[in-house]
Amino acid sequence: MLEPERILRLEADRVVLLDQRRLPAEEVDVECRSAADVAEAIRTMVVRGAPAIGIAAAYGLALAAARGEDLAAADRTLRSSRPTAVNLGWALDEMRDDPSTEHARAIHRAEVERCRAMAAHAATLLAPGTRALTHCNAGGLATGGYGSAVGALLAAFEQGLLAHVWVDETRPLLQGGRLTAWELEAAGIPHAVIADSAAASLMAAGEVDAVLTGADRIAANGDTANKIGTYSLAVLARYHDVPFYVVAPSSTVDHRAAGGEDIPIEHRDPDEITSRFPARNPAFDVTPAALLTAIVTEHGVHEAPFTESLTGAVAEA
Ligand code: MRU
Repeated sequence: MLEPERILRLEADRVVLLDQRRLPAEEVDVECRSAADVAEAIRTMVVRGAPAIGIAAAYGLALAAARGEDLAAADRTLRSSRPTAVNLGWALDEMRDDPSTEHARAIHRAEVERCRAMAAHAATLLAPGTRALTHCNAGGLATGGYGSAVGALLAAFEQGLLAHVWVDETRPLLQGGRLTAWELEAAGIPHAVIADSAAASLMAAGEVDAVLTGADRIAANGDTANKIGTYSLAVLARYHDVPFYVVAPSSTVDHRAAGGEDIPIEHRDPDEITSRFPARNPAFDVTPAALLTAIVTEHGVHEAPFTESLTGAVAEA
């Protein structure tokens, strides 16, 4: 498992990010010397995953403070770098009164601690011999260390509960096929990458016992935005009577969004799909709360009705 500082860190005059676009082929760092550099790295997905981009933004603001940049401008630039993950704005709100390097590092440490706590809660939901399916990458790379949904898989594996993981490759940028598979390989967890479209037939064959994903923003009613394709997995899981768990820190819960219709969905460059034909490239979709078996945060396992069970699940940095 990668150390949190290997994934992203703040040095005296720079933010250093492991370039997730080039994994697993190459382990290369990108150095950001200003808040604008960090915002560009978030936008271009050098660093990605909801908690990780929140931490990167906190480091970007701390760097701006250390450099004497205009903090209001730095905040605006960072805040607008990607729209869907609420952790980005959450981390910047946290930094407003104390944009120090110590505070940014504390936010990073707290996110990793939240991951460990939620992983322990999530593991209690899995029976021995579980064959899990996961989508996108909700591992340490996405959270600054340990991981949310993948953290839960690590905890379950350590407890002898997890037999195998099906890894959706996750079109179009292959966060599953490149990043999750790499993390599971490093942890020694048996896994196989599948085309996203293979999930239905695996469920029909009885080869999936649970689906675990992360989240980019969870509305107050439990509607959950995550990587495009999560919604279709949840529909499939309901049809095949497979439990569907969202594992995410409380920094991903947005109590200001009443429901999924309040969650902004990022549309990325159609070139990520094809540069030859017209294309449409929504990066996230919203899974209705009714399709979720449970949402797991560091506070515990939340079941429907989520409006009540998520109350109080707000992060304290
Ligand atoms: O576009 P990405 O790679 O930033 O999307 C990431 C996801 O959808 C993750 O599942 C989500 O951020 C949870 S990360 C713990």
